[in-house]
Amino acid sequence: MLPPRSVILDKFQKQYRVVPSDDNPDNFNRFNILLDGVPIGHVNYHFEGSEVLYIDDLHIRHDAMLFPFFWWDWIVIKIYLPSLKWPTHNFQGRGIGTAMLDLMAHHARSRSAKRIVGQISSHDLKDNPDLPNWYRRRGFTVEGNRISRSL
Ligand SMILES: CC(C)(COP(=O)(O)OP(=O)(O)OC[C@H]1O[C@@H](n2cnc3c(N)ncnc32)[C@H](O)[C@@H]1OP(=O)(O)O)[C@@H](O)C(=O)NCCC(=O)NCCS
Repeated sequence: MLPPRSVILDKFQKQYRVVPSDDNPDNFNRFNILLDGVPIGHVNYHFEGSEVLYIDDLHIRHDAMLFPFFWWDWIVIKIYLPSLKWPTHNFQGRGIGTAMLDLMAHHARSRSAKRIVGQISSHDLKDNPDLPNWYRRRGFTVEGNRISRSL
């Protein structure tokens, strides 16, 4: 496990905390990416044997709501003002996904793993056809829907 509070920077040098989630079954893990306590993305992963870190899901939110109040206040506001829309923030394209891959590589090395692997789902590929190239630009090989990077 990482220390409970790691920090990553986006390309504007803004800081995000990366916090392991401890409510998962043993070998399935999650890092939540938080800005001022608000989740703006996550990585789900597990280790396969001693050599491979498998990324199950990497997601940076494009619709994060940064509330200046508690989320349950929002339920009350929606009851009285159902048509009110709170502005959402897009955290994609700021280098956070790249920083998380670096952090995952660091984490894998610290556990003596030799490779990071994962799969690109057809759903994600449909939304972002450039995804295979996004991984290639970050040192991964892409074969079919499988991604892999040696450490
Ligand atoms: C794919 C994903 C993880 C990338 O994370 P990210 O933080 O947006 O990625 P980065 O900011 O590090 O890099 C973004 C790249 O896309 C480009 N980009 C441009 N506009 C962008 C936009 N509006 N949104 C996202 N990327 C954009 C950037 O120029 C950069 O290109 P580069 O490879 O030439 O540097 C993220 O977009 C995401 O969660 N998408 C939805 C879920 C998904 O597809 N997950 C992947 C599972 S395999």
